[in-house]
Amino acid sequence: QLLDYSGVWRYRELILPAPENYVVSRPEGNTGLYPVGIENCGAGRAGHRQIGLYAGLERLFLKHEGENPSGSFKDRGMTVGVTMAHLLGAKAVACASTGNTSASLASYAAQAGMRGIVFLPAGNVVAGKLAQSLAYGAEVVQIKGDFDDAMELVEQVCNELGIYLLNSLNPFRVEGQKAIGFEILQQLDWQAPDWLVLPAGNLGNTSAIGKAFRQAYQLSLINHMPRIASIQAAGANPFYLSFTQNFARRESVRAHTVASAIKIGNPVSYTRARRVIEESDGIVEQVSDDEILAAKAIIDRAGIGCEPASAATLAGIRKLVARGVIKHDEQVVGVLTGNLLKDSSTGIPPVNDVVVEATMDAVRSLLSK
Ligand code: F0G
Repeated sequence: QLLDYSGVWRYRELILPAPENYVVSRPEGNTGLYPVGIENCGAGRAGHRQIGLYAGLERLFLKHEGENPSGSFKDRGMTVGVTMAHLLGAKAVACASTGNTSASLASYAAQAGMRGIVFLPAGNVVAGKLAQSLAYGAEVVQIKGDFDDAMELVEQVCNELGIYLLNSLNPFRVEGQKAIGFEILQQLDWQAPDWLVLPAGNLGNTSAIGKAFRQAYQLSLINHMPRIASIQAAGANPFYLSFTQNFARRESVRAHTVASAIKIGNPVSYTRARRVIEESDGIVEQVSDDEILAAKAIIDRAGIGCEPASAATLAGIRKLVARGVIKHDEQVVGVLTGNLLKDSSTGIPPVNDVVVEATMDAVRSLLSK
């Protein structure tokens, strides 16, 4: 059956039992779970082992959601969100975005033959992501302001103009993103890891993966809830600030970080994500831009690669291991949320501009240096 090829619709009984002919799917999911720990990386993977050494963990896996069709985990939620829009007869869908949600929305709206409208903070979306939205034919509205301004505006626009909103405020987006959690558990033969670590911006993914684990636990598919660690960029850390006060206050900040995907100061899924951290005995950590770029270099050089925001995962794992919060022998799954190709400007070495003659001599002397 066609739907069984999708790493989202395969779990449709736990997500949305939609009639098959309404489903808008590329298909998505079925992404790699890379064993990269010092012990579990296996022979012949000296490169991947560097990641385990950097993290300080024996058993570490990286789940690469950048391997989804539009290059980020957003496709998992978008297939369900756009399917719901289709079921409801919506003609137009919209979102605010730092670039990945918009690329995904543009792709699925195009597939469904709907109008896709994306609200982007002008000058704050990297070229590759903007190009995807344009190429897939979305209407791009650039806002003078940051993501948080765009988010506030798109809610008003959707209410007033009757457009279907597809940010993670939309519960069906969250339902789809739960499939990341289910797929990880299935790849681990339903043996829950000790920790699940992921980057956190608008907090939809923290909410979604936490909900998946809660459901899997309630259904006795796993015998314990993994602890969830949400990692924020230090310059975009409202959730971290709230966490350090035992969630006594909801914070917001003016966001600044090199990881443009998570440059968010007032996350919309705060309440759901807070519940996930509390009930999973989880933690929120922050990492600096330098720590993010150092971790990205490790993931890139290992031949896996990811966009900057995703590297917050490894930076956070390393920090939590160093702090003794995550123990060396615990099993950890880190989520890489976006593809290396999404952002080819940040944290990538400059091209060597030496051009040599097309002769054996020239190459020999170049490579022997
Ligand atoms: N990593 C990447 C690559 C992202 O694009 C995002 C969010 C996150 C992590 C954070 O996930 O918001 O669920 O906490 N990107 C959104 C966007 C905001 O518009 O593409 P979150």
